[in-house]
Amino acid sequence: MKIEGSVAFITGGAMGVGKNVAEALLKEGAKVALADIAAEQGEATASDFRKAYGEDRAFFVKCDVGDEQSFKDAFASAVSKYGNIDLMLNNAGLVNEKRWQMMCSVNISGVVNGTQLAVEHMRKDKRGRGGVIINTASMVGLVTRFVFPVYVASKHAVVGFTSSWAKNPYLGDMGLRFGTVCPTAVDTAFQKFKDEQLLYPDEFKEMLKAISLMGVDQAVDGFMKIIKDDDSNGKNLAITKEGSKYAHNELVDG
Ligand SMILES: NC(=O)c1ccc[n+]([C@@H]2O[C@H](COP(=O)([O-])OP(=O)(O)OC[C@H]3O[C@@H](n4cnc5c(N)ncnc54)[C@H](O)[C@@H]3O)[C@@H](O)[C@H]2O)c1
Repeated sequence: MKIEGSVAFITGGAMGVGKNVAEALLKEGAKVALADIAAEQGEATASDFRKAYGEDRAFFVKCDVGDEQSFKDAFASAVSKYGNIDLMLNNAGLVNEKRWQMMCSVNISGVVNGTQLAVEHMRKDKRGRGGVIINTASMVGLVTRFVFPVYVASKHAVVGFTSSWAKNPYLGDMGLRFGTVCPTAVDTAFQKFKDEQLLYPDEFKEMLKAISLMGVDQAVDGFMKIIKDDDSNGKNLAITKEGSKYAHNELVDG
């Protein structure tokens, strides 16, 4: 897709990966609507972006992605501000094995809510302009890890849901493209876990030592690759410190 002149709606856009992908898009001429539950941080990020890239280029809206009405209202306010959304990044996510229902609400319901809103808005067969929907999964959406099994399940859900949409035989008429990004560990606030957020914190720390964190810029490069790649429908982009490549799952991809 052509980034210049496009509009992106990014959940979890106040900080971390979402914020940094937003900035990469701004640098290439997009406008960004940042949606996040962290209002103070989100307002500050949008304000910094407006100063750097222009008054009409960035906008923050408070949104709890797990709450259908909150998401609907946030999406509607972005549409009313910018007229059209071309790129949907369902990126908000967290780890909390103790409060696992809340985690599933953000990681699964949030992605479903955002995808459904974007599909209805974008679909060409219902007077939309088409668009791209990229959902943030994780490497653990493609593999398994015993240290946080519910988080793993939530990210497998993102991969399965998004890959299923990508196989919709009517996508051509809808003018839509779907994909996921699947990074290993990225150096953001996300990684500052309290022990209670994990099922096996000590083993998690050992695991992390073995892979080590990648810089957020590396994750952003992966996002930009799949966003721009018009041939990426149905692809899951695995991102590691060594670079990024489309993961192939014979059962899912055929
Ligand atoms: N950092 C990593 O190691 C890593 C690795 C693989 C995948 N991911 C995934 O990448 C995504 C972004 O993670 P990050 O590293 O930028 O984390 P982060 O903690 O830096 O940012 C996550 C953002 O999501 C927001 N958020 C949380 N709950 C929300 C809700 N209910 N509604 C709206 N916004 C909400 C937070 O306020 C925050 O701004 C997540 O989906 C995460 O699961 C992260």
